[in-house]
Parts: sequence; structure tokens; C-alpha cells
Amino acid sequence: MNDVMVYFIHKKANLQLFKLFCIVISVVVFLSTFSCKQPEPNKNDIESRVNSLLSKMTLDEKIGQMSQIDPSYMTGDQIKKIVSEGKYGSFLNIFGVEKINALQKIAVEKSRLKIPLIIGRDVIHGYRTIFPIPLGMAATWNPEIVKKAFRISSVEASSQGIRWTFAPMIDITWDPRWGRVAEGCGEDPYLASALAKAMVEGIQGDKLTDPTAVAACAKHFVGYGFVEGGRDYNTTYISEPVLRNVVLKPFKAAKDAGALTFMSAFNDLNGVPTSGNEFTLRQILRKEWKYDGMVVSDWGSISEMINHGYCANEKEAALKAITAGVDMEMSGSTYVKHLKSLMDEEKVSQAMIDEAVKNILRLKFKLGLFENPYVDPQAEKEILAPEFLDHARTVARQSAVLLKNDMNTLPLSASISSVAVIGPLADAPRDQLGTWVFDGKAENSVTPLTAIKEVLGGAKVNFAAGLKYSRDKSKTGFAEAIAAAKKSQAILFFAGEEWILSGEGQSRGEINLPGVQEELIEELAKTGKPLIVVVMAGRPLAIGNVVRKSNALLYAFHGGSMAGPALADLIFGKESPSGKLPITFVKGSGQIPFYYYHNNTGRPATAKSWTPLDSIPVINSQASLGYKSFYLDYGYKPLFPFGFGLSYTTFKYSDLVLSSTEMTNKGRLTVKASVLNNGNMDADEIVQLYIRDRVGSITRPVKELKGFRRVHLKSRETVSVTFELPASALEFFNGKENVIEPGEFDIWIGPNSDEGLHSEFAIK
Ligand code: BGC
Repeated sequence: MNDVMVYFIHKKANLQLFKLFCIVISVVVFLSTFSCKQPEPNKNDIESRVNSLLSKMTLDEKIGQMSQIDPSYMTGDQIKKIVSEGKYGSFLNIFGVEKINALQKIAVEKSRLKIPLIIGRDVIHGYRTIFPIPLGMAATWNPEIVKKAFRISSVEASSQGIRWTFAPMIDITWDPRWGRVAEGCGEDPYLASALAKAMVEGIQGDKLTDPTAVAACAKHFVGYGFVEGGRDYNTTYISEPVLRNVVLKPFKAAKDAGALTFMSAFNDLNGVPTSGNEFTLRQILRKEWKYDGMVVSDWGSISEMINHGYCANEKEAALKAITAGVDMEMSGSTYVKHLKSLMDEEKVSQAMIDEAVKNILRLKFKLGLFENPYVDPQAEKEILAPEFLDHARTVARQSAVLLKNDMNTLPLSASISSVAVIGPLADAPRDQLGTWVFDGKAENSVTPLTAIKEVLGGAKVNFAAGLKYSRDKSKTGFAEAIAAAKKSQAILFFAGEEWILSGEGQSRGEINLPGVQEELIEELAKTGKPLIVVVMAGRPLAIGNVVRKSNALLYAFHGGSMAGPALADLIFGKESPSGKLPITFVKGSGQIPFYYYHNNTGRPATAKSWTPLDSIPVINSQASLGYKSFYLDYGYKPLFPFGFGLSYTTFKYSDLVLSSTEMTNKGRLTVKASVLNNGNMDADEIVQLYIRDRVGSITRPVKELKGFRRVHLKSRETVSVTFELPASALEFFNGKENVIEPGEFDIWIGPNSDEGLHSEFAIK
């Protein structure tokens, strides 16, 4: 072997070794973003750095830190100038590695105190890899996969310089008309709290100074989900028990999980706008919860207090916001314009300003921005990685809820000879991403049509959208759709809403399927072919007619980039649907609000007492109206209850056992039940635990979720599912104080909020 050959062989071997080394390092780095737990910087250290920096700051520099701006309408030179002068400490809606690095360079090299910027952006359910809308993620009842989804979002977003996101949105709502129902976790405080924790942990990661860590922002504090009539930005009136027992719960969970920031809201709460609300921001958040994070206003929400009629002018708005404890103003200029004169007039104290600035600086130190303000351009390659898309597919699969499946219409055999793919959402790559997608791109979506063709081969798929978009009122496409249906073995109709019909400012009075979708579904049903409807929407729609007309119905929400393949996995039985509803599905807008944990009333309805409208005798009859709490037309039950969801298999619950029938208010119970997969397919079941406090010092809900577990069961397998129920989980606020009251309780373990094995226990 001559020297030249030896050199080449070595070089090749070295190259391979080097490649192997690089692969190992990338895998380690990737895994470490999910698993490594490393110590945080010392708290005292951070406090002393905060104090030392604060002591050098001028008032202008402090006010600059308290102000955040969207510079979209500024020229490059204007932006550079305000950064070098320390006029703004934070930007939102600016992105791109080069741009952000250039601005950071100015901030840390040219501004007097070299304070880095913090760049914020709404990364609500994915950055470039888009996951299902949060309401869809909530339908997975799987905090682990939700946490990983948010971790991936942070890895992608941070690679573009974003170290702060305005998520999670954890507003409980009882109103599906509200467009922002899409962004939250639904109606239940227990489920939303578990998910809030997972989201915060996912967003922030294990180590805040890691370049992939992003500061979370629990929003909107607080009560925004209770806007009257579901009309966005509307007034809210929330009693203190509902506020504390329901609305605040997920926020407390986010705080306990370490959420670095909170956002005040647009709404007024019991007469006081939440961006100037001392009770919620100072009393509850700071005093009771001892929160030392940072509070940002919502977009322009400080000056909006003038429209609310709570402040006469911007100066007063700035005063009320800072007094209430809003540290940073998002996209507004009341702080920039008025804090100085408010101090001169001694309406705002130095201590107040310093407290706000400390909260902001602490955040920047915690994130390690002083040490490492720049984005690594190499990180860009972490966007849309195959394993990210794979996870998006898993989450989308677990988020779909099977609401009907007569005669096992689903799953379809992958060897079916033909299917008709119809409907406005069948091939709508942007719409399936859902609301609040700033950076995700339609071109990265895989639609149901593409995925179904992939499974069956294009020749077996007869596609005719029938309607161009969800609100389309033209019936000109009907004939083609019906013809496609007639020549196919089964119909897959992808119904729903375009993305623009939910989200901020997108409330709807009627929550039926828009346009003439129902009419097309009705025509398709007449063909007699098996009709499978898949609904892709940003809210729980009133779909009673569609349920009646279809043979199977899968509710998929807006499922994100990989909605298509995920749905194909379910439609062709690669996996069974396993999602459960995170919110009650009502029969129509008139039944709103309907949430499963309502109180009982003095006249609760039963199946016997409900008198359906059509059965009432025609003239002057007093006959058996029931005089119970129901609607003559809707009855007393919703279309589908909270927690509901079917599977391709069936589950049988048995043997509910409690470790004791009583406990003290400091005790705990172990509660167990067996669940059998009684069918031929392996599948997940979400086992739910509910309680009822029968008598209280204030009236108590008829049911409350206190535990859930997603379990995987092989066909014919039985598992025993165990829950711990500490007495502390039964605590509630009774209008005066938090109490755990002695008395009798019901307990259920079951598949949803309306069914389950029952037992009872007492608190002595
Ligand atoms: C929304 C917030 C959002 C902010 C910044 C506001 O209109 O209410 O949720 O984070 O805009 O985009």
C-alpha cells in the first residue's frame, strides 16, 4: 500500500469517525433539550446583579425597560436609534436571526448600560411545526405529549431569536361562541391546570439559560374567557367563588410551574379593567401567590382603560396600570409619555418604578441574556425536523375525538376499492393550521386529501370539494360531489370552519357549520353510502344535524401541519381515536353556557321530568310541563358531555374500590378501578375521576374532575387504575375563605363526566 492510499484510507476513516461524532453530539444536544436537568443560576446572585444595575439606571432608562414595541412600521434606522438610546427594552413581532443579532449587538455594545433586549412573539401552538390548536391539544388529555409539543415550539422559535412567548393561553371558558375558545384548554379547571403546567414546563425547558429556553407568559390575567355572550373583549362579571374555584386555578398552576411572566387582559372584571386591577394583580398574584415574575399588559390594554370608562386619559391609565402592578406596557406609549410626570407629581413612587424594572431585569438575567444575547445561526436547521413533524402527527392523532361510529363504520379498510373525499376542509392547508399561526406555513401542511391518496393510491380517491371554503353558499359544486360519492364505496366529508372564524376578535353568534355544508351533507346522506364526517374547526360547533345524518363522526379541531396523516392513521385504523372532549358540546347557541360542573338548582331535571316541546298539547294545556330546570326545545342534556369520546374498541369499567369510606380533612384516599379493553384492537382510554360534595356552605357543583389517566390497553387486557385523592383536592373558596368541609361525597370513575362507577365517602 503506498503512502497516498494510506492517507486516503485514514482520511476516509477519520471522516466517518468525525461524522459519527457529529451525529452523537447532535443526538445528545437534541435529547438534552428534552431531558437534562441542570442547576439554575443562584437566586441571590441574580438579585445582586439586578440591584447593582438598577442603581446605575436613569429614569428614562428604567421607563425604556418598561416599554415594549412592535417596530413593524419603523425604518431600520429608527429602530437602531431607539435601541442604542435604550428607549425600549423589548420588541415583539420582529424576527430573523440576522436582524435580531444586529439589534442585540447595538443594545449590548452601544447602549449606555448594555442591557440586552428581550424579543417576544406569539407562539401559541407551534412555531413552524404547527400542532393542533390548544383546544385540540387539550382533547388529548395527555400532558406529556403537550409538554413535548411546547418544547419543540421553543426549540424552533428560539432558533430565530425568540426568547419570550405569549403562551400558554389558559383562559377557562364556558362559551364556544367566543373565538378564543380555540386558544385555551376548555372548560375545566383541573384539566386546564394539568395542561398549563405541562405547557409552561415545555416552553421554558429545564434550564432557563439554555438557548432553547423561552419565557412563558400565562395569559390573560384574568377572566377574559367569561366575556358576556362570548363576544370578544366584552365585559365580565365573575363571582369571587367562581374566580377562585375555576378561573384562577390554571394560572396558579402556571405560577407554580415557574411561569416567568403573566399578561393582564383586555376585559374589565366586575367593573375594574384587568390591566388596572389591584385586586387581581397585587392582592392575588403578588401578595397571596408571592409571584416575583414579570407582568406585561396586553396589546394596548392600558390605554383601552379610557374606552372602558375607567380612566379619563392616558396619564391616568398609566397611573392605574403601574399602581396595579403592570410592569411592562405592550404596544402603547402611556408609560413612555407619562411615568416621568407622574413621578414629578409624586403620584408614582420611585419604589413602584424600581419594582417593575427589577421584575424585568430579573427575567433577562434568568434567561442568561446578559451572557449570551445572540442567536446561534446554526440552530436554524432545527426547524421542521422530521421528529418534530412526527410529534405533531402524534398529537393531532390523540386530539381527535370520535363522537359517533354506528355499526363500526370506521375504521375503513386500507384495501377499500374507492372513497369520495369531499368538503371544504379536505384540502385546505392553511385552514387546518388554525388560528394564531404567525410563522407556520401552509406549504408545510399535509392535508387529509394528500394523506388519503398516500394510503390508498390516487386512483382510488374521488375528490370533489363541493364547496370552495367553509362559508361558501354556492351549490354549484354539489353535483360533482354527489357524483363522486355515488361512484365510491364510502364518503369522507371534511367539514368545519376556516381558520379565520376562530381566534381573537372572531366570535360567532351561531355556532353551526358555516355556509351550506349541512345541506351538502344531507344530499350526500341520500346516496346511502357510508358517510363519515370529519369536523376540523376552531370551536365546538353545534353539529346535532350532522351527527344525525352521518354514520361516523370524528371531531378533529384544527389539527396543525400534520392533521392529514394523523386523520388518515385514524380513518384507516392504524390507531384508534382516543381524544376526549375538553369542553361540553351544546345543541345550539341557546344552550350556552353549559358546563358539566354546574350547580344543581332547586329543580334539577331528569329524563322523566323533561317535557319535549313537541309533546305539549296544543291548546291551553297546563298538562305535565314538568316545572324543572330544562329547555323545552333542547332538554337538559348537552349534545355531548365533557370528557366524552368513543374508541374503535369498547372499555368495561368494574371493581371500584376505595381504601376507606372516610378520611379527615388532612387525609387521603386511594381509589381504584379495573378497566378492560373489551374489543379486538389495542387502544388508549382516558380514565376519569369525578367527585361531588353533596352539601356545602355554598352550593357545590354536581360533579368535579379530580383526576385522569391515559392508559394503553391491549385487546382483552384489563388494567387496574389507581388514583390518590388527598382531602386537600376537595378544598374550595366559599366566598369568605378556603375550606375543606366535613360531609358526604360521591365519587365516580368512568369514561366521561356523564357515566361511571359510583361510590361514596365522607370527610369526618
Ligand atoms: C392578544 C394577546 C397577544 C398580543 C400580542 C393581543 O391582541 O390578546 O393574546 O399575545 O396581542 O400579539
